[in-house]
Amino acid sequence: MSKSLQAIRGMNDILPDQTPVWRYVEGKVSRLLDNYGYKQIRMPIVEFTELFKRSIGEVTDIVEKEMYTFEDRNGDSLTLRPEGTAACVRAVLEHGITGGGQVQKLWYIGPMFRHERPQKGRYRQFHQIGVEVFNLDGPDIDAELIVLTWRLWGELGIRDAVKLELNSLGTSEARARYRAALVQYLSSRLSELDEDSQRRLKSNPLRVLDTKNADTQAVLVDAPKLVDYLDEESRVHFEGLKARLDAAGIPYVINPKLVRGLDYYSKTVFEWVTDKLGAQGTVCAGGRYDGLVEQMGGKPTTGVGFAMGIERLILLVETLEQIPQELARQVDVYLCAFGEAAELAALALSERVRDQLPNLRLQINAGAGSFKSQFKKADKSGALYALILGDDELAQQVVGVKPLRGQGEQQTIAWDALAEHLATCVVQG
Ligand code: HAM
Repeated sequence: MSKSLQAIRGMNDILPDQTPVWRYVEGKVSRLLDNYGYKQIRMPIVEFTELFKRSIGEVTDIVEKEMYTFEDRNGDSLTLRPEGTAACVRAVLEHGITGGGQVQKLWYIGPMFRHERPQKGRYRQFHQIGVEVFNLDGPDIDAELIVLTWRLWGELGIRDAVKLELNSLGTSEARARYRAALVQYLSSRLSELDEDSQRRLKSNPLRVLDTKNADTQAVLVDAPKLVDYLDEESRVHFEGLKARLDAAGIPYVINPKLVRGLDYYSKTVFEWVTDKLGAQGTVCAGGRYDGLVEQMGGKPTTGVGFAMGIERLILLVETLEQIPQELARQVDVYLCAFGEAAELAALALSERVRDQLPNLRLQINAGAGSFKSQFKKADKSGALYALILGDDELAQQVVGVKPLRGQGEQQTIAWDALAEHLATCVVQG
């Protein structure tokens, strides 16, 4: 195929054999968020570039080198969203729905775009489910966000494979004091730092803590610790969060080097990580961003949230073999009809059955065909039963109900009794 007719590298089709697991995971998450009282919001995929620069931060990997930015026909600089928080903050501000201290507990789902080097678990178009809460400033809501993800991991069967890492970045004043101390220390050992860290030291020194370079990591062992610079308010908040997680029985580790790659965080930050997916082990990440709304022109409004990568979640569910068996079967009943008159009756009958059993997954044969070919299609569909409607059945107003997965003998059922019969023998997915 010519190159122009292929999908863009790092942007994947999700083919029909994969969509059941996507819908399963998305269904679990959306039901859970409904149950905790979160409401869905849908933002556009494209925003003004300025939005991301101002919120995520000019000197971050995302803004410096990963955004899909282009000029539209008006000459405006637009960007495919690399994440959801910025757009969500823009939306609540624009519509005034957090004004006057109104609490908003929101969630969103959709594609995000980052020009990263594609590999397993890392794509250029990927999908997030994100949650953002506005105007609740206590550790109770931070804890709720973590508790609900913990419940989700339980429901998806991946709890044993994920670990919660926690840190507090403090208020922006505390972080400024810490930044100064860190810069002073790292500057005194500048020649021992890798090139990237030397550059970050000038532009975004906290990100040096994130380095993968072993020599720089060795230098960091004696570096000042953020926790020693925490202000009282952030310390009390962090203690409050830890107490709630302890009370809820959720295990965590404090990772003093967890700083996150986006600039808007303050106080709590957290990541759920796994060692089952190789290098791309963070399945869900987030934190508090109490200064962001104000920074973007709104009244002081606290915020906290997280986002999970759906591809990574699915990879983990698959790796741990936690996909429910029922997902493999998409059809309950396959209706075969032989001859024009039977086809007409089959269509009417199938609609009657659908009226009575709205959840039944009934596939009606299309394209006619011999007995043999229709049975082959019925079997391939994965259905539990084939319904058979030929001239004889038509004359007697019955159908043959033939088990396809070894559950007993074929039966003959009157049209009027068909829905009731299927209700008893098909466990509806
Ligand atoms: P993030 O850490 O940049 O945070 O992304 C959140 C999650 O999205 C990651 O933990 C990962 O699971 C997934 N993810 C990120 N990049 C990729 C990629 N290239 N391919 C596949 N999955 C990826 C945020 O986006 C923040 N907006 C989260 C947040 C919400 N903080 C507060 N509220």
